[in-house]
Amino acid sequence: MDRLYIFDTTLRDGEQVPGCQLNTVEKIQVAKQLELLGVDIIEAGFPISSPGDFNSVIEISKAVTWPTICALTRAVEKDIDVAAEALKFAKHKRIHTGIGTSDSHIKYKFNSNREEIIERAVRAVKYAKRYVEDVEFYAEDAGRTENEYLARVIEAVIKAGATVVNIPDTTGYCLPAEYGEKIKYLCDHVAGIEHAIISTHCHNDLGMATANTMSGVLNGARQAEVTINGIGERAGNTSLEEVAMILKCHKGVGIETNINTTKIYPTSRMVSSLMNMPVQPNKAIVGKNAFAHSSGIHQDGVLKNVQTYEIMNPQDVGIDDNAIVLTARSGRAALKSRLQLLGVELSQEKLDAVYQDFLKLADKKKDINDDDILVLAGADRSQNHRIKMDYLQVTSGVGVQSVASLGLLIAGEKFEACASGNGPVDAAIKALKKIVNRQMTLKEFTIQAISKGSDDMGKVHMQVEYDGHMYYGFGANTDIIAASVEAYIDCINKFKI
Ligand code: KIV
Ligand code: ZN
Repeated sequence: MDRLYIFDTTLRDGEQVPGCQLNTVEKIQVAKQLELLGVDIIEAGFPISSPGDFNSVIEISKAVTWPTICALTRAVEKDIDVAAEALKFAKHKRIHTGIGTSDSHIKYKFNSNREEIIERAVRAVKYAKRYVEDVEFYAEDAGRTENEYLARVIEAVIKAGATVVNIPDTTGYCLPAEYGEKIKYLCDHVAGIEHAIISTHCHNDLGMATANTMSGVLNGARQAEVTINGIGERAGNTSLEEVAMILKCHKGVGIETNINTTKIYPTSRMVSSLMNMPVQPNKAIVGKNAFAHSSGIHQDGVLKNVQTYEIMNPQDVGIDDNAIVLTARSGRAALKSRLQLLGVELSQEKLDAVYQDFLKLADKKKDINDDDILVLAGADRSQNHRIKMDYLQVTSGVGVQSVASLGLLIAGEKFEACASGNGPVDAAIKALKKIVNRQMTLKEFTIQAISKGSDDMGKVHMQVEYDGHMYYGFGANTDIIAASVEAYIDCINKFKI
C-alpha cells in the first residue's frame, strides 16, 4: 500500500469562514482531536496575519506531539521570520510559503512578470530553509496556471529545497480530468520531482473539490490538503472525511491514510459545534442523513442485509448506533462517556456544571440528542461575555400585537426596554436595539429546531452587519424567541469596537 499524507487546514483555510473564528483554547482542543484522528500535518495558522493566529501556532505547537505543525506565509521575508518564531516549540515543523502563479495573479495581484515570480518563489523557499528543513511551496491559483510555466516554477522551488509542492485549485475551477492531468504533467516534466511530495489543495466552488483531489491522488499526488466537514472560504475545501473514507472503501486503489476513521464523527461534531457551523444533513459521511434510509424499498433491503444499500458501516466513522439513550435518570458517567464520544473532555468541575444543565434540559425534553449535549457543553462560552440576557418576557398571539420586555446585563449593569413588533422575535429584537443603540442590520436568520419533538432545543444562527463587517452569532434554548435574542447578543459581543 502507498501512503497518502493528510494535511489538515481546518484551523487555517477552514477558519477563514467569516464569523467562525475560534479562540486559542478552542483551537488547541481541535488540534488535539486532529492528533487523535491521525492527521499527519496540522496547518495551525497564518502567524503574520494577527497576534491571535501567532499565539495559536505557538500554543498548538506546545500541545501537539506527533503531527507536523505548519505555518502559512506569503513569499515575504517578514512573514517567514514571524512563522519561524511561532513554530519555535513545534516538535516537527513546516513553513508553507508561496505566491500566485496564474497570469491573472501575476498581472493584477503582483503587477509583475513570470520570471520575476520564479525569482521571488525561489528566494522565499531558500529563506524559509534557513529556519526549517521541511518547506512546502504553494503555487496559488495553480488550477488556472498554464502547465508548462507551472512546471518551471515547481522545478525551480524543488531545486531551492522545497520538500512538498502544493498545487492549489484556489478558485475551484478545474475539472477532475484536467486537475489529474496537471499533476501527471508535473510528474512527467519536472526534473527532480522525485525529491518532493506533490500536494493537492482543492476548493469546492463547483462542487468538485473531492473529485479533483482524488484525480490528483490517482495521478501521483501523495499529500491531500483537507478540512473537517469541508469547511472553508466560499464553498469550502475538500473534506477530510470524504478522502479518508474513499480510500478505505476502495482498497483496490492501493493507497492508505493514517486516519483512525472511528474518530471522524466526533471530530466533525466538535468542529461544527465550536464553530457554530451546522453540517448540511445530506453531507457525505457526517451529515445527519448520511446513513438514514427513509424510502420503503431501501429500508426493506437494509433490514434484509445492510450491504444492500450501505457501502460503509456507520461504526467505521464513529457513529455509535448503540449509544446509551440519555434521559433525566442518566448519571454523570453516562454524560461524560457521551461527551468523550463526541470528542469533548471536561474537567470534573465543568462536567458537574454541564450535568446540572443537562438535568434541567432532560426535565423539559425526553430525547436528548448529541447536538443538545454539545450545546450544553459549550454553553458557558458566553459566561465571559460583556452583554448577557437577564430576562425576557413576550406576549404574542393571533390578532394581537406582540410585545417584548427585555432585561440585559452589560458589564454587570442592568438595562431594560420594552417594544412591540411584527411577531415576537421582531418585538424582542426591537427591545434589544433600544438598549444597544447601534446601526446594525440583521442579514441572515436561520432557525434549526424541532428535529423530533415540540420540546426540542431551538438553535438559531444569525448574521448581523455592523460598521462594514459581518458578525456571526449563535443561540440555543428550548424557547426559540430567547434563542434568537441570544444569537443577536452573541453577534454584538463580537463587534470590534
Ligand atoms: O487556496 C489556496 O490557494 C490557498 C493557499 C494559500 C495554499 O489556500
Ligand atoms: Zn485554500
